[in-house]
Amino acid sequence: MIFRFCVVFFGLSLTFSHFVQADSQDEYELLDRIGSGNSEAGKIKSREELCQGCHGEIGNSSSAEYPRLAGQYADYIIKQFRDFRSGARQHHVMNAVASSISDEDLTDIAAYFASRERVRAQQRKAIEVAEKIYSNGDMRRALIACSSCHGSSGQGSYAGEESVPTIGGQHKLYLREQLLKWRSGDRANSPGGVMNMVAKLLKDEEIEALAEYISSM
Ligand code: HEC
Ligand code: HEC
Repeated sequence: MIFRFCVVFFGLSLTFSHFVQADSQDEYELLDRIGSGNSEAGKIKSREELCQGCHGEIGNSSSAEYPRLAGQYADYIIKQFRDFRSGARQHHVMNAVASSISDEDLTDIAAYFASRERVRAQQRKAIEVAEKIYSNGDMRRALIACSSCHGSSGQGSYAGEESVPTIGGQHKLYLREQLLKWRSGDRANSPGGVMNMVAKLLKDEEIEALAEYISSM
């Protein structure tokens, strides 16, 4: 009885707090993205440490070789950076870059890029194959919808401990490359190997279509 009461009460207070926060949702969302770093300091440090030289002044690089970092979750940026540092994620350039930055500088730099606005395409491309997989997955091969983790417009999600990265508006070639690396196992740093499991179920033409579709979000 007491238990049931608690459940109902907990449910109500959740609904209520959700209601109260609704007005300032954008603000909360942004705080989740930025994390604990100082984005003003990060702006200067990311210039001094040459991140801007490759990833763009506000993290919106125009070259497909360099992934966009603008509007990305700070804790995802930090995790990837540490993975490059430890070698859990391999890339000749980033493995070298990551060895020379302190954790404090990294937190500030991540906050700066996270605080910038991500690229949003004017109109999402109508690519049926990709749209289906992205939004519905495919039950027959136990393929989970990308949207259930990465959000309906590729904005990513934040669960309080770990974030799922923003992928909408990212360079098509970078997305394609990462999906191929997840599939072959060349990249294997996702929690529980989730992205390797997902990508193994994808055919070449589906990877191509998904990369194009997601970059137009
Ligand atoms: C010489 C060019 C260069 C410089 C300088 C550079 N990067 Fe990178 N960065 C890259 C490339 C290329 C990749 C893509 C790696 C891959 O394909 O796996 C990358 C990937 C990343 C990623 C992973 C992005 C994702 O979506 O998973 C992060 C985070 C990152 N860089 C942060 C930084 C930070 C912070 C700095 C500055 C301290 C920096 N980079 C400096 C070239 C550079
Ligand atoms: C169960 C949750 C989940 C599902 C479903 C999922 N992802 Fe992911 N995805 C993740 C997580 C978590 C990461 C970050 C991995 C890491 O920490 O390196 C990620 C990373 C990625 C990346 C790399 C992003 C970058 O900046 O380097 C791409 C691309 C990607 N996912 C595409 C997809 C596509 C396409 C689908 C659907 C076919 C999909 N994901 C389904 C959780 C998921």
